Amino acid sequence: MRRFPKARPHPVLSPVVARAPGRVNLIGEHTDYNEGFVLPIAIDRGTEVSAWPSEDDAVLLESVAYGETARFRVDDDPATLQPPWARYVAGVLSRLRRNGLPAVGFRAKIDTDLPLGGGLSSSAALTCASALAAVEVARLGGAAIPPWLEEPGRLAAICRDAERVALGVRCGIMDPYTALHARSGQALLLDCRDLSVRFVPLPADRVSVVVADSGVRHSLAAGGYNERRGECEEALARLNGPGARLRSLRDLDASALAAEGKRLPPTLLRRARHVVTENARTQEAADSLARDDLARFGRLMVESHESLRKDYEVSCPELDALVEIALRARGVFGSRMTGGGFGGSTVSLVEPGSAKRLVETLATEYERRTGRKAEVRVVRPSGAGGVRRDPAAQG
Ligand code: GLA
Repeated sequence: MRRFPKARPHPVLSPVVARAPGRVNLIGEHTDYNEGFVLPIAIDRGTEVSAWPSEDDAVLLESVAYGETARFRVDDDPATLQPPWARYVAGVLSRLRRNGLPAVGFRAKIDTDLPLGGGLSSSAALTCASALAAVEVARLGGAAIPPWLEEPGRLAAICRDAERVALGVRCGIMDPYTALHARSGQALLLDCRDLSVRFVPLPADRVSVVVADSGVRHSLAAGGYNERRGECEEALARLNGPGARLRSLRDLDASALAAEGKRLPPTLLRRARHVVTENARTQEAADSLARDDLARFGRLMVESHESLRKDYEVSCPELDALVEIALRARGVFGSRMTGGGFGGSTVSLVEPGSAKRLVETLATEYERRTGRKAEVRVVRPSGAGGVRRDPAAQG
């Protein structure tokens, strides 16, 4: 039996409190890992990691949401840890170490008001809050912080990679990037190829964002997500054949796909078509928002949902029902599934005066139709995560 050391809390230092928000993607789904465009907002719900530096290399975690604890050493293999939620934190520590941050132990309490696996990026909120906490704990311990950490997107890439090494999910950069770089009151048009960003205001007096959690749970690791990513890679390889040299599906446009698409079997053609049309929709949606054309924005959301349902096949009957209900309600500009799909949540944009009514309609109609309960609420476009010290908290 392996003996675990007990993490000894630092006798003097007060805890580091790191918080990272969840996100709702307004449009641009399954495009990030194809080097395309996404348009998310961070929301006013998130995950908090309160960490006390310890004097050794042990990590002791307590998850309030799971009612469980985990302990491991900073150099343990993240992929084999139990319980599985601890892998997110261990994955972050392992990627930070590999990128030059000295290993430090800590004791931490993790709390969240995000639904777990609900399509609002609870996993990136956890990896990002853990990364912010770990860096701050190292800094307090006198460690030299590698200068690259200040470069935009670097910590987000570490959090994305953590999910791959620790959980086997080959997710894209959208979720951690949003959690670490979002701005209050604004949506973020991110070009996932070069990480250039354009912020577009989402004025609270013009539009409210309503999120409905279907209660259907996905497990991205369970295969569908990685399978879609694999299909995109296969479509790209076939299109590239001899001659063409596309770096990603992002490099295709509608006319190139019309000309070259016959080289693809039907399923791969539909996957590629989703990516091509979604990239165009997302850029147009950002422009529509910038010129306050919410009606056009809403129509693009509906087209996005249809494309995800028919071409990409990542929706499910419960998400489709939520979208249908929203689109019949008063004051709604548009509605679609958000996040990886196979369950999770929908997002609807609605006139502020009709938001409360939409929340009620979605909850009652969804239950009537499916027998399930949806958690529906208005969310606010919020700022990025960050760290503070909490001298009052007790270790
Ligand atoms: C999940 C992934 C993201 C992104 C979305 C789909 O949320 O973590 O990187 O691919 O699915 O848009």
